[in-house]
Amino acid sequence: MCGIVGYLGAEQAAPILLDGLSKLEYRGYDSAGVCISDGRDLKVAKTKGRLAKLSELLDGGKAITGTVGIGHTRWATHGAPSDENSHPHIADSGKIAVVHNGIIENYQQLKEKLLAKGKRFHSETDSEVAANLIEYFYDQGLDFQSAVRKAVDRMEGSYALGILCRDCPDTIAAVKKDSPLIFGFGDGCNFIASDVPAILKHTRKVCYLEDGDMVIFTAHSARFYDAAGDLAERRPEHITWDTESAEKGGYAHFMIKEIHEQPKAIRDTLSPRMKDGAIVLDDLSLDAAYLKSLSRIYIVACGSAYYVGVQGKYILEKLCKIPVEPVLASEFRYADPVLGKDTLVLIISQSGETADTKGALEEAKAHGARTLAIVNVVGSAIARLADDVIYTWAGPEIAVATTKAYSTQLSVIYLLSLYISQCLGTVERAAYDRIYRELQAIPEKIEALLTEEAISRVQYCASQYFNNRDVFYIGRNLDSATCLEGSLKLKEIAYLHSEAYAAGELKHGPISLIEDGTLVVAIATNPALFDKTMSNVKEVKARGAEVLGLTIERLAYGMQRDTDSVIAIPETDPILQPALSIIPLQCLAYYIALMRGCDVDKPRNLAKSVTVE
Ligand code: G6P
Repeated sequence: MCGIVGYLGAEQAAPILLDGLSKLEYRGYDSAGVCISDGRDLKVAKTKGRLAKLSELLDGGKAITGTVGIGHTRWATHGAPSDENSHPHIADSGKIAVVHNGIIENYQQLKEKLLAKGKRFHSETDSEVAANLIEYFYDQGLDFQSAVRKAVDRMEGSYALGILCRDCPDTIAAVKKDSPLIFGFGDGCNFIASDVPAILKHTRKVCYLEDGDMVIFTAHSARFYDAAGDLAERRPEHITWDTESAEKGGYAHFMIKEIHEQPKAIRDTLSPRMKDGAIVLDDLSLDAAYLKSLSRIYIVACGSAYYVGVQGKYILEKLCKIPVEPVLASEFRYADPVLGKDTLVLIISQSGETADTKGALEEAKAHGARTLAIVNVVGSAIARLADDVIYTWAGPEIAVATTKAYSTQLSVIYLLSLYISQCLGTVERAAYDRIYRELQAIPEKIEALLTEEAISRVQYCASQYFNNRDVFYIGRNLDSATCLEGSLKLKEIAYLHSEAYAAGELKHGPISLIEDGTLVVAIATNPALFDKTMSNVKEVKARGAEVLGLTIERLAYGMQRDTDSVIAIPETDPILQPALSIIPLQCLAYYIALMRGCDVDKPRNLAKSVTVE
């Protein structure tokens, strides 16, 4: 989704903005631009395409001078990717410039009114309406700040806006509602940005603006106003992680770096919460009496986070004996779900900013359900809105296709399931202790899956299959949930048609699509279900499929007879097996994507953080 950076200080703004925007590329974009104030005029440079093109146009930023500016990477919503639709947008009389992330839902009505007042428009975007509306009020005699306030009061929808006024060259205004925006406190300079990596080179002191906030800042001062328009205090938080951890550190892509970071990310997520045989979720306010009263848990999320929810259904139901329903956030919010005091809504989100997930959370709260969020980005909107939060300590995830966030979300599901089972006494002591010990050993077992030898095996498989046209992932129970994520990874980054099916469902449709050479990835990690899945493998083999099997080491021999290749993984408790099975599937998608020449970290049409519905 769109990325915003703003800078005001003593240095040339354009190179700082271009660098900041490059740190937001992971969000997905199709065009980029900057607007710089040189003290007299607002100068805009923008173009459809990659940031490198904008940088070339601007000679790395040298071609446009001025120490105040706003920059933007656009992910098209209203109007196709084009130079005209790129941001920043300058208002009709050239006095106001804006960059915008979000959707102004009533832009059409506002546009018609502004057209009737004589304002002209040069793009199809909703964002240009914001620029013209602010300028309209400014022309009526309001000062810059009041014109911004009055304009945003008229706007419905979501927005993070960075705004320049030609006549106030030492000031930037920014407002935020339902789209992420942070403020960075610099030394003799100040910043705004959509996310921390954009400004981390310059400052570690940031605050996450609240919904409805407006900030008016110069190089040396910043005034914050809340949604009611009252002066508000916004304290800086200190960012402890390093720019390095948001950079590639020697790896070819963020995705493979993040795959390799999984053992550490999982350790960081698990170890502070596992003490002397017990799960300790200190900040959680769910007690045994409340947990006993629960009649249902909904797990609500989008994309891979939703697939963690599908795993969560199997895991929580088995360990806690509470009915669990995973629901896509985009469906949940308009589906009239049955909610009340006896329902817990578990929200899962890496970014904590996904529009549908946030909307679903608001819906759940409005209906009196208790909400618990599993979030990676500290201080994000979802983390702040939910009644309780458990953070995944994955660190910044940059590649669009998630890996370490998925794995740490799954780890939190294990922690939470053990925690609830501990409160409710639903798992026998010996079984609890075994799962507890095995959970602690997961990071080490993942390390074994990421050795050079293990990776070469996956690379070999990728080289065998990267030209396949259709891929089916099949498995039973938890393995079927792993299939969903494995298949999504392949679609996202390798642009291969792939589907995930519960193996038992094959005969109810997809088997008709199996023909000579169709690739079937069969996951069978549960000894109790192994023979059943292998019957399905035989059925597809008999119809000409090539089968890549994935199973635990001790069952690998049995699988080899009926498959073309096998990837063997270490064994753990069957309920924890998904934490291991997903690793070779992430690697498989990565190497297939590489072999197909795809842009792994920035797949076409996808965005890291989807902040519109
Ligand atoms: C996008 C990303 C996915 C992610 C999903 C949900 O589609 O590409 O990797 O799973 O959004 O994002 P969230 O930040 O809410 O986990």
